Amino acid sequence: NEIYLAGLGGARPELPMTAAGLEDAARAQLSPEAFGYVAGSASTERTARANVAAFGEHRIVPRMWRGTAKASARDLSTTVLGTHLAAPVLTAPIGVLGLVHPDAEPAVASAATELGIAAVVSTAASTPMEEVAAAAGDWWYQLYWPADEEVARSFVQRAEVAGAGAVVVTADTPGMGWRPRDLELGHLPFLKAQGIANYLTDPVFRSRLAAPPEEGDQAMQTAVLTWLGMFGNHTVRPADIARLKEWTSLPVLVKGVLHPDDARAVVDAGADGVVVSNHGGRQVDGAVAALDALPGVVAAIGRDSSRGATVLLDSGVRCGADVVVALALGAEAVLLGRPWVYGLGLAGRAGVVHALRCLLADLDLTMAMAGLASVAEVDRSVLSVRG
Ligand code: FNR
Repeated sequence: NEIYLAGLGGARPELPMTAAGLEDAARAQLSPEAFGYVAGSASTERTARANVAAFGEHRIVPRMWRGTAKASARDLSTTVLGTHLAAPVLTAPIGVLGLVHPDAEPAVASAATELGIAAVVSTAASTPMEEVAAAAGDWWYQLYWPADEEVARSFVQRAEVAGAGAVVVTADTPGMGWRPRDLELGHLPFLKAQGIANYLTDPVFRSRLAAPPEEGDQAMQTAVLTWLGMFGNHTVRPADIARLKEWTSLPVLVKGVLHPDDARAVVDAGADGVVVSNHGGRQVDGAVAALDALPGVVAAIGRDSSRGATVLLDSGVRCGADVVVALALGAEAVLLGRPWVYGLGLAGRAGVVHALRCLLADLDLTMAMAGLASVAEVDRSVLSVRG
């Protein structure tokens, strides 16, 4: 309502209202390095395009006689693994946000909180997790599992002490994918904007260094090399999840799962759920669109299966209808990525609030006009079946 009423007064919004519009504005306004880092995907970027296109293959069948047009008739809230969300949306973990805007991760966590949703905070954040936590309401911690397991354990325990509601282990990044846009600009985004802040502040990581990184260029260079040796862990396997569960009492999700057998393996090892994701097409170009992988994973481990695990989805969510489609195919909630990152680059915290509000308002109205009063009502019957 607020958005429409502002329009009635003749006010034009300062930022575009769609994900595509935000991307265009960001292309024009952000530095080439920042835009390339966010927009870039692996190789030909065809999986990134397929992620978005997959949503267009599904059609919602509106049921307008159900009386859901009044806002008071609807409740979009849901609870995922103990975290209450005003709508079935979280912000995806995005690293190195200092490259996009100096306000970075604390601005995102606080914007998500303002809208009643939760932020998933990356290990590769430009800001130490304790500082992000101070700005956040509900937040989850995303773990890139370092090769030094004591550092991994320290990260998880820091996150729990700082108040994270869940740990999301990203399984699809034993190293960075082939990302031509970053390569052409000749930069490693991680280093340019302190994507290693959580390492530099970690007591176990620091104990591995001969000298504290603050002690000059030489000490910092050693710290960076030590980090490089640790970052991609090629050996994380489903069985490691059982050990992770011993380190923490928080729920654990594994992000980057696309095959039903992998989903079964991580849940059988103790994970509470998975995020079906191909990292926005940034890792395996030619990989299956995340949405196309969703039904198989839901059938294997989802709420209604014998395993009863939580299934979330990201990669390609751009509008309210996309959220409805993902829920209809069995996701309990979605993680939203690039659209709010462009908002951050364009206008800091206010830009994140704007991008999130647009998507949530779009979702709310889509639900209203489709005759859907709650998240629980969104199932397969909402979609048309094409013969
Ligand atoms: C990511 N993603 C990501 N994932 C993760 O687990 N840890 C991270 O640090 C990052 N960093 C990151 C940076 C940037 C710039 C992007 C675009 C993505 C992946 C992210 O969590 C999510 O899976 C994708 O963003 C989903 O794709 P779309 O919907 O944003 O295209």
